[in-house]
Amino acid sequence: MNVKSIRLINFRNYNSIDVNFNKNINLFIGKNAQGKTNLLEAIYMCSMGKSFRTNRDKDIINFEKKEAYIGADLEIGNFNRFIELKLDRERPKIIRVNKNELKNQKELYSGLSIVVFNPDDLKIVKDGPQERRTFLDQGISQLKPVYHHNLGRYLNVLYQRSKILKSGKFKRDISLLDVFDSQLARLGTSIIMERYAFIRELSEISKNIHYNLTHGKESLDIKYSTNVPILEKGQDMEKRYLRLLKDNNLRDLEYGNTEIGPHRDDMLIFINGKDVRNFGSQGQQRTAVLTLKLAEVDFIKKDRGIYPIVLLDDVFSELDEERRLYLTKSFKEMQTFITMTDAVEIKSLGNMDKNIYEIEEGSLERRG
Ligand SMILES: Nc1ncnc2c1ncn2[C@@H]1O[C@H](COP(=O)(O)OP(=O)(O)O)[C@@H](O)[C@H]1O
Ligand SMILES: [Mg+2]
Repeated sequence: MNVKSIRLINFRNYNSIDVNFNKNINLFIGKNAQGKTNLLEAIYMCSMGKSFRTNRDKDIINFEKKEAYIGADLEIGNFNRFIELKLDRERPKIIRVNKNELKNQKELYSGLSIVVFNPDDLKIVKDGPQERRTFLDQGISQLKPVYHHNLGRYLNVLYQRSKILKSGKFKRDISLLDVFDSQLARLGTSIIMERYAFIRELSEISKNIHYNLTHGKESLDIKYSTNVPILEKGQDMEKRYLRLLKDNNLRDLEYGNTEIGPHRDDMLIFINGKDVRNFGSQGQQRTAVLTLKLAEVDFIKKDRGIYPIVLLDDVFSELDEERRLYLTKSFKEMQTFITMTDAVEIKSLGNMDKNIYEIEEGSLERRG
């Protein structure tokens, strides 16, 4: 899977560019605020239909313009695909695949996968459970669009239920929660089962990667934490879940929120038996994040039989030489886009097949 070329018009600080990419490594070098991340964002948008930085498509249109365009030639397995996005300040965006307009941007999930590495990823390890749930949700959604759909429905029912809990009106008639409870139990069970399966596999893949990254010095374990008991049969689990919801109804009414369910899930990460969030050094936390991201890449390869595209935004400079070499080796078989401010870091890439571009104020020149 690779992006052969991309064309941008009025996309953020780019007026009009047309670039061909290397099938393996593409380096974008430039000072701060010149347009490196913008270009990664454009590549991401062709794959996912939306940005990884904003939910507001209008932010992406050049400040002074009314419309923006991205067109990309993709090679997915043996197919070529021409993806186009048209953004307009006044209208919802249009996405076309091979000139056919999609009815729904979610349809675009099917063909492509992509993994973004950026310094913010450290949050996955350091911050609260929401960050890890998002990591899980994005990872699973890429492989299973139906998960994404069910999650959206779950969160919607949860929201409706919390409105009722807070309204007070229903305090005397608790049976009004019944319809929400049974929906939550059904959707929640499917979400938990998917997360459970994903984490089990992720844990195995990560263990290997982390072992290699640390020369066998550290052992990494990932455990799923959920307040719904995981049972073998979905039906049994759903029943148990429903009972737990009911048992907590009075508590939920008192607090105005729902105690039981995957919205409270967490993913615990241990290094040598210790929770890395609370007890890991900065260095261990960084390595753990790198492991998780690399595991996501391998997971996609395992599941879909094809490597994703990888975007590395300002990550290279934060790594020591050894980690850089490890990353570079891992990326041998996939298309990678790497941003950096300093050309010195190129050394780690040795004689790998690569294109080098210099980016300055929204213009791009090939340098090698
Ligand atoms: N909608 C937009 N229209 C024009 N310029 C934009 C828009 N959004 C961001 N920019 C500009 O893009 C630049 C930042 O680009 P970015 O790719 O994030 O930089 P970097 O090279 O540091 O990764 C800033 O100068 C910012 O003003
Ligand atoms: Mg940037």
